[in-house]
Amino acid sequence: MTYTFDDYKKSADYLLERFGDRPEIGIILGSGLGHFAGELEDPVVVPYVQIPNFLRSTAVGHAGQMLFGAVAGKKVVCMSGRFHYYEGYDFEQLAIPVRVLKLLGIRALLLTNAAGAVNLSYQPGDIMVISDHIKLTLGSPMRGANVEEFGPRFFDMGSAYTPSLRRLALELAERSPLTVHEGVYWFSPGPQYETPAEIRAIRALGGDAVGMSTVTEALTAAHCGLPVLALSVMTNMAAGILPVPLTSEEVIETANAIEKPFTAYVRDILSHL
Ligand code: HPA
Repeated sequence: MTYTFDDYKKSADYLLERFGDRPEIGIILGSGLGHFAGELEDPVVVPYVQIPNFLRSTAVGHAGQMLFGAVAGKKVVCMSGRFHYYEGYDFEQLAIPVRVLKLLGIRALLLTNAAGAVNLSYQPGDIMVISDHIKLTLGSPMRGANVEEFGPRFFDMGSAYTPSLRRLALELAERSPLTVHEGVYWFSPGPQYETPAEIRAIRALGGDAVGMSTVTEALTAAHCGLPVLALSVMTNMAAGILPVPLTSEEVIETANAIEKPFTAYVRDILSHL
């Protein structure tokens, strides 16, 4: 699959025509966190299947539509339903959503995800502001011919998780009932959850939380110079910490349980962006 700049532009132009305006902020909602889409006022809703050159959502708990509307005084484009490597997409295909959002004109990207807590001081229901990530598996959304219009062949990842946005999120956490940490996200390709031995290794190597998303989006955003704030919801303790098997039901249940304070926290962040 080789997409040219014009292929991405075709998707973005279609969306701009449907939206009738340019969004300021992009949001990608994680597993069980799709209810935030309900916060958009008078949304224009575009199912992914209608967008030229776009991908199709297959993951459980992901609606598969792009919404445009106002939240907290900001014009927001919201992807309700994201794309994951475990669904069968190539890393290269996973560049598409963020590149299209970039061409819509957003000035910041907010990523949310469900993740397993690796750090033993974290609890289910806590939030982690991602400070950095570790991805030791092969593959990159930027592999293959470089699309120069987006960014250079080789690019810096030193501040991919934008420091000023992380500071803002941590400051605003003080007036939220949520417990908010800052830490390192470990990318796990899935769809299997990790083994207990893998979790011990991840902890030893510096991971605080583990999940199957976000990293491809953060890489794509860094390449095209888009500021990123990424928030992980600790939906469960990672494998082997508690004597219970991990299930996707637990992930969705915990995400649902913190819906109200998490929505309020994200709204507060948006109003300051
Ligand atoms: N591991 C990987 N991905 C996840 C987890 C987990 O424990 N919880 C939610 N997404």
